[in-house]
Amino acid sequence: IQWFPGHMLETKNQLKSAIARVDALLEVVDARLPLASSNPFLERIATGKNRMKLLNKADIADPEATQAWLEYFNRDIKWPAAAICATRPQEVSHALESLVSQVDRNKARKAKVMVVGIPNTGKSTILNTLAGRKVAKTGNVPAVTRHQQRTSLKDNIDIYDTPGILWPVIEPRHRGLVLAVSGAISDTAVDYHELAHFAAQLLLERYPACLIERYPFLNPLPGQAQALIETVGKARGCLKKGGHVDFQKASQLIIRDLRSGRLGRISFETPKDINVDDDTDQ
Ligand code: GTP
Repeated sequence: IQWFPGHMLETKNQLKSAIARVDALLEVVDARLPLASSNPFLERIATGKNRMKLLNKADIADPEATQAWLEYFNRDIKWPAAAICATRPQEVSHALESLVSQVDRNKARKAKVMVVGIPNTGKSTILNTLAGRKVAKTGNVPAVTRHQQRTSLKDNIDIYDTPGILWPVIEPRHRGLVLAVSGAISDTAVDYHELAHFAAQLLLERYPACLIERYPFLNPLPGQAQALIETVGKARGCLKKGGHVDFQKASQLIIRDLRSGRLGRISFETPKDINVDDDTDQ
């Protein structure tokens, strides 16, 4: 899977030297896919840096999975982690304070904190919450932020926002699907049919109660992904000429509901999936 807009390459090259100039690093990942949305490149270049992984969008992630991830990061990877919702000021400030408290500095000197993360994880939203006003542009499409900017906060903290970065080759295939289903990479980067099946299978296997709650007409619950998409398509009027189900439309509807949290609090991966993935990057 290849999805690598030009400005990201430039960012990656600048990132290494930028990290060397700051006191601490706040990596924002998506709580629903905290490993797939972590950047392995950062792991390699940020050793020894004061750092924190923010599992953002915890408000729409499965709380049990989030808890398991927090234990995983704090224990196995030794990259301190906290789960937050970007629009809740208390949660965001608390995480920043705990990171800055690790920085060894004279209080007269500004603490420089850099916010990094792959596209669409909520970096700009976090920055706006910290600043208490709109300083960064947000959006639900990947790669909205294009230029680095600095914002001065209270308590002598300067925060640096960076454009979304992403590694050029997304492996293994499962990671690409997880990223695409969350909206972190463009839908067009993966085979849409495969993506729809992945989403439907995840819901059937792990979140059947969410499916029934959102789509009460699913009774009994279909056993197969294809049948699920077809039933939702029929019930929601995603039809082509002649009354046949429009699979593309039906799949889009399910993925939209899944992404937005309308299907409930759902996580796309748990620490238990790691061995299955055989992820060589981490
Ligand atoms: P790039 O500019 O592409 O790097 O994106 P970004 O990381 O700055 O993400 P941004 O803040 O633009 O947020 C992306 C989308 O996620 C927006 O639609 C936000 O409203 C949404 N979002 C951000 N944080 C949260 C959160 O904690 N919970 C929920 N439910 N949505 C969030």
